[in-house]
Amino acid sequence: MKILGIESSADETAAAVVEDGYKLLGNAVASSLDLHIAFGGIVPEIAARSHLEVILPVIDEALWQAFSPDAEDRELSIENGGKIPNSQFPIPNSSDLWSQIDAIAVTQGPGLIGSLLIGALTARTLAITKGKPLYGVNHVLAHAYANFITEASSSLPATYLLPPTAPKFPILGLIVSGGHTQLMLYKNHKDYEMLGQTRDDAVGEAYDKVAKILGLPYPGGPSVDRAAADGDPLVVKLPQAKLDNPYEFSFSGLKTAVLRAAQAMAGQDYTFPSYELPHALTDKQKADIAASFQKTAVKALVDATAAAEAEFKPKTVLLAGGVAANRLLREELAKRLKAPLLYPDIKLCTDNAAMIAATAFWLKPKQDNPYKLAVIPNL
Ligand code: KG4
Ligand code: ZN
Repeated sequence: MKILGIESSADETAAAVVEDGYKLLGNAVASSLDLHIAFGGIVPEIAARSHLEVILPVIDEALWQAFSPDAEDRELSIENGGKIPNSQFPIPNSSDLWSQIDAIAVTQGPGLIGSLLIGALTARTLAITKGKPLYGVNHVLAHAYANFITEASSSLPATYLLPPTAPKFPILGLIVSGGHTQLMLYKNHKDYEMLGQTRDDAVGEAYDKVAKILGLPYPGGPSVDRAAADGDPLVVKLPQAKLDNPYEFSFSGLKTAVLRAAQAMAGQDYTFPSYELPHALTDKQKADIAASFQKTAVKALVDATAAAEAEFKPKTVLLAGGVAANRLLREELAKRLKAPLLYPDIKLCTDNAAMIAATAFWLKPKQDNPYKLAVIPNL
């Protein structure tokens, strides 16, 4: 069963084709990230307009990669680079490409309402006009399903480092993104519970805010990670939140502690405005703060995951979401865990549509009336 997935919940417009929930046939992502950098975060109206501009070429690109025999020879500008050609390239035998698609899956939420609407309306229209079943997918659940993609077609333009085997139930999942920090226990595909989540900021959000304090570019995850490489994590002491439930998280105190440490390092008190801090700190000081923050945040994630592993004895632990791209997190988890640790290729950690198509295959969340598929921003 070949499913076309469509994802547009935030700033990535993505389409992908996945066969039987595990084989990646086509994967296209265009990001409007460049347009948001100047604002230090995603601007919903700009994101929605960008989705509208690129969603059809992105879908064409995914179909082309999946089904066109000469995909290899084509000049590809969407994958990785996030650049869209000015003119839409012609798709020969488009009806042939569509005839090979068995169903369409789209993100229903959570996400930005204007962004979600573009994906959902496109998917609805295509399902109706092409006569395909339509599936509505939960974006957060879907991040974990990136780990079920264990094979990629050899004709894909990019290479993928995929998990060596599919996850085995029971599965412990650490879902870490810009909006979510959750520990999940999956007994089976449709039988899962949330062991704990963050009480305040998501860990990706904390990365983004720390980047802002240090004057590092958005998105904060990769830039704090990069700065931390040159820093000494022992120079600044930061507190790890202590909570009654060992599977819960809290990152807002850590973020404030970073602000206070940065003010102290700059020789100022708590009244010093945070927007002036980047100019008052040396690169070395920024690197030390980034390294301490990263060490403390990763330790909180690893401690909770290791405690849940000891209690629930999963056969697999999986990592998912944008922060799963973080190397220190992967390394520290691998050191502490006994069960095999799986994580997706970096291109499938951050928002993508392959995870949406894979989830649809395993959960079959069919929408009986495609005219009625609604978006659910707070799903
Ligand atoms: O899953 P995702 O692409 O979007 C959401 O659904 O939120 O996650 C984006 C988040 C951002 O907060 C970004 O700063 C973080 O993932 N991120 C990272 C890294 N790469 C992206 N955080 C830490 N280390 C990274 N290397
Ligand atoms: Zn996401």
